[in-house]
Amino acid sequence: MPVLTPTRPRARLPLADAAFQRVCHVVPAVEWATMADDVEAIWRLKRQRNAVILAHNYMTPEIFHGVADITGDSLALARQAASVDADVIVLAGVHFMAETAKLLNPDKTVLIPDLRSGCSLAESITAEDVQALKQAHPGVPVVAYVNTSAAVKAESDICCTSGNAEEVVRSLGVERLIMIPDQYLAANIAAKTGVEVITHPGACEVHERFTPRDIEQIRLDHPGVTVLAHPECPPPVVQAADYAGSTADMVEYVAGIEPGAQPATVALITECSMSDNVAQLYPGVAFVRPCNLCPHMKRNTLGSIRRSLETMTHEVALRPETAARALAAVQRMLEV
Ligand code: 13P
Ligand code: SF4
Repeated sequence: MPVLTPTRPRARLPLADAAFQRVCHVVPAVEWATMADDVEAIWRLKRQRNAVILAHNYMTPEIFHGVADITGDSLALARQAASVDADVIVLAGVHFMAETAKLLNPDKTVLIPDLRSGCSLAESITAEDVQALKQAHPGVPVVAYVNTSAAVKAESDICCTSGNAEEVVRSLGVERLIMIPDQYLAANIAAKTGVEVITHPGACEVHERFTPRDIEQIRLDHPGVTVLAHPECPPPVVQAADYAGSTADMVEYVAGIEPGAQPATVALITECSMSDNVAQLYPGVAFVRPCNLCPHMKRNTLGSIRRSLETMTHEVALRPETAARALAAVQRMLEV
């Protein structure tokens, strides 16, 4: 007779069980079993600390659908950060996003789970670089992509994100401006608006790797596919796509696809987790996933978020003088 070892009943994890319903299309139950403990702990810690988690669209689904309170693109996170009602904000994203949340909430505790969550765009430019550009082009307004440090924002007139760059540029009503630090976003916006744009040789290490050849191959492999590209991609990639927009614009585009009209296939030319998060919401749409991973976004894990809430680290702090000037540029953007 085989000896049967009794299995210990699993502790009740009601909060994690509820969260699983929100990820079950994209996270297999066996994988969820390894995550449920952390998910349960994070929900409990959020209550104890009166904390909310803001998560960017590039978070993995167990974070995005499983533990976040507010999700979205950089613009939505900045907007929502301005009206958060909690003592603590955990920013599941990258460092510049946490800084923006702190600018808008100087009296709240803003935590970033891993200090190494940088960004190739934010790191490509310093405040001194912006000062040099201003000296070389006196009187020309400076538009800083939100993917910059507070010190760089402080040297700028107004911020923008990929979701509002066109509106911000048009709102200035000028023929010439400085737009930093993403050379590709700047070129894509210049082509759309006809404004002369002076830029800086920064690039997103995720989006610059896509090529028009990738899109050609996707179209060959998936006839009828709709290709959506992020405007941080090089202009030839954006031109080869059917539509270009921020990560929130991509979600909106997929949401607008008529259900059941015909099986829709969409390729999101952006970071890997984006397709997983949208696929959970629209199971009727097929996704081609030609993704590139952002190593900085992927520093956020259930483990690092749990630790962050347990130990209240890493707290974002800003120099008051820099913060005041950077906030002015962010607020000017939010008013557009
Ligand atoms: P959005 O979410 O604003 O489109 O930005 C993408 C991105 O790369 C953020 O780091
Ligand atoms: Fe920066 Fe690109 Fe990563 Fe966004 S995806 S954080 S722009 S490196």
